[in-house]
Amino acid sequence: MKRILSGVQPTGNLHLGNYLGAIRNWVKLQDGYECLYMVADLHAITVPQEPDSLRKAVREVTAALIACGIDLEKSAIFNQSAVSAHSELAWILGCHTPLGWLNRMTQFKEKAGKHREEALLGLYSYPVLMAADILVYKATHVPVGEDQKQHLELSRDIAGAFNRQYNTEFFPLPEPLILGDATRVMSLRDGSKKMSKSDESDYSRINLTDDADAIAKKIKKATSDSYPTVGENLENRPEAANLLTLYASLKGVTREQALAECAGKNFSGLKQMLTEVAVAHLSPITRRMRELLAAPDYIDQVLSKGVARARNIAGGTMQEVKEMIGFL
Ligand code: TYM
Repeated sequence: MKRILSGVQPTGNLHLGNYLGAIRNWVKLQDGYECLYMVADLHAITVPQEPDSLRKAVREVTAALIACGIDLEKSAIFNQSAVSAHSELAWILGCHTPLGWLNRMTQFKEKAGKHREEALLGLYSYPVLMAADILVYKATHVPVGEDQKQHLELSRDIAGAFNRQYNTEFFPLPEPLILGDATRVMSLRDGSKKMSKSDESDYSRINLTDDADAIAKKIKKATSDSYPTVGENLENRPEAANLLTLYASLKGVTREQALAECAGKNFSGLKQMLTEVAVAHLSPITRRMRELLAAPDYIDQVLSKGVARARNIAGGTMQEVKEMIGFL
């Protein structure tokens, strides 16, 4: 059996990186796999969250997933905190995870920065919770963007450590699925930084909630250079390369085709082309999201249906895990 688990944090708006790097692939994978998609609210509280904003963000992300094409007849969408097995398994897996493995995690190093002593335990053990998210469903495949690759390798190591200790093949080693041509979307302001919800500048990203005017404004203000044509010396022009990747990915053409379409155009020509394709692609999603958000009760029903399905699978795993460990 092939089962997918993946998740997205409800902190701020979803952006084009989340969409092209992950969610669009989640939609495509629904036909070949059993899919469970999670709003990672337990991960969100590794940094302080205001309760009302968190509630709102969980509903917004759920609406975004439906608007992007997650089919509720096939796949489950649920909020992580409603399935207590995630936290329970995270503790158990933490007892199989050497500190040395966690010390290697680059995301923790980046997020904790110079204030390592004040960094929270939850932020440090975040990848163990991620392993629990995946393993509690015995998921075989995990579609993510490039930035989550290291966390997934750790999930495989943790699954292996547990299996070795109990001399079983209980947990399948989950395979990362890093698919498509936009696995690492960069900031519109700085082509060396990834597009991120936590970037202070909203001009660094295109949000799924942005209207046509906002999209046009952000692309217009995106950092550019003064090369006469788009195709020239792209290896050394991260901003131009990023906009070209976005264009090709949204339009559904190869990089070569995109380059051919831009032939003779300068940076502002590329920006115009990208604006058109981004608005055309995103406006139906934004419209559908707004309709869905006008009916919060429906969103809550979607989540409780997803939670029931998730609890059912996760509960079975936890029973077996407890038996293996020797809990009465
Ligand atoms: P999060 O919320 O940061 O991102 C959600 C998904 O979007 C991808 N992504 C990107 N892809 C391309 N370019 C970008 N600039 C970009 N930014 C984000 C991420 O790789 C991810 O796939 N810890 C996870 C959520 C999570 C999870 C899990 C994922 C919790 N438990 C278990 C998989 C399995 C996170 O913070 O993703």
